[in-house]
Amino acid sequence: MELVENKSFKAAIKKNIQAVPFVWNMYWGAKQQLLRIAILLRGYGYDIRCTYKSMFWAPQQYDIRSICAELIFQYHKLEKGLVMPGEARLFGLDPANATMNILEKHGDAILSADAYLFRAAIATLIAYRDKLVDFKLDAKDQITSRVQRFLAARQVAITPEVITPHALPALLAQTETSAMFDNLVKARRSVRAYKPDVVPQDILRKAIEMAQLSPSACNRQPSKVYLISDAEKKAQFLSLQNGNRGFGHLAPHVAVLTTDERCYFNAMERHEPYIDSGMFAMSFILALRTFDVGTCCLNWCVTSKTDIQAHKMLNIADSERISMVILLGFIPDECQVPRSARRDVDNVLINLG
Ligand SMILES: Cc1cc2nc3c(=O)[nH]c(=O)nc-3n(C[C@H](O)[C@H](O)[C@H](O)COP(=O)(O)O)c2cc1C
Repeated sequence: MELVENKSFKAAIKKNIQAVPFVWNMYWGAKQQLLRIAILLRGYGYDIRCTYKSMFWAPQQYDIRSICAELIFQYHKLEKGLVMPGEARLFGLDPANATMNILEKHGDAILSADAYLFRAAIATLIAYRDKLVDFKLDAKDQITSRVQRFLAARQVAITPEVITPHALPALLAQTETSAMFDNLVKARRSVRAYKPDVVPQDILRKAIEMAQLSPSACNRQPSKVYLISDAEKKAQFLSLQNGNRGFGHLAPHVAVLTTDERCYFNAMERHEPYIDSGMFAMSFILALRTFDVGTCCLNWCVTSKTDIQAHKMLNIADSERISMVILLGFIPDECQVPRSARRDVDNVLINLG
């Protein structure tokens, strides 16, 4: 009874306000503003909770993903120092010590989690030592002896693919590579029809290998691809996404891209996960296109509730943010795509002189 009275009271007020356009516009405008602020705050609140939990390197919350990321972060500074142009000078004392400290403390765990990474770190220390010695950069022996002792205690087989630095491979003739890239980017369009055939694992693995060559901040490689191929699981997952109606069900695979916040030292880097993931995604879809696999990126603009639901459904760690969803499958023989015209280059390139 009370509820009915309350409702009709509200309706009466609304009717009165609507009768005065000026007041109604003010009311409507204020309501929209408040709604915008509420959505914004809820979104940022969720981001802060996630980022606060994962994006911080501290011993008490150190796990293997963060350890490996910090190892890369440190030894990559040495790698960069090794290729700096100009006269050679002493460099890399802090990162060299940090690299050795991490390997001393967590070497076994790193070795079992990612033996390639372990060998790459050792190869970098070897190159660093050789540079210090060959160029007589460390006259006061601030670091050389420690590196020598460290390496002597670890006889690790160094295979050519981890040796650093290495010569940048020559490109094909420039005109040829430009033409190839031009063809490739024009051949990639968002495809919303697919052959039902399964895409073989070796193609997917090769495309991921190519995507892994994308740049990432300090080479920390936060990206992962969760592949869903089971029809029921696909449908369940796609029901959480709002942009696949009418075609999502046709794709034989759904790839969910994540970016791991444990790879970043603190919230100053808060935008990097998505940037790195976006670069990975671009290479991934171009690589897939070289195998005749069509893709359609799907937004992951969801509420925190849906995001949590997706994490549970796919068993994704809390530290990994879902950045994008990609539908993928072989392109049908006849395939229409929107023109999706691009802005004029003059609206993109601003020459500042
Ligand atoms: C992050 C991202 C999210 C997207 N989300 C959707 C989506 O939810 N549904 C859809 O049909 N297309 C989606 N797209 C595809 C875009 O509509 C498409 O890339 C754009 O119109 C340009 O067309 P093109 O990819 O064919 O060149 C998305 C693309 C990106 C990069």
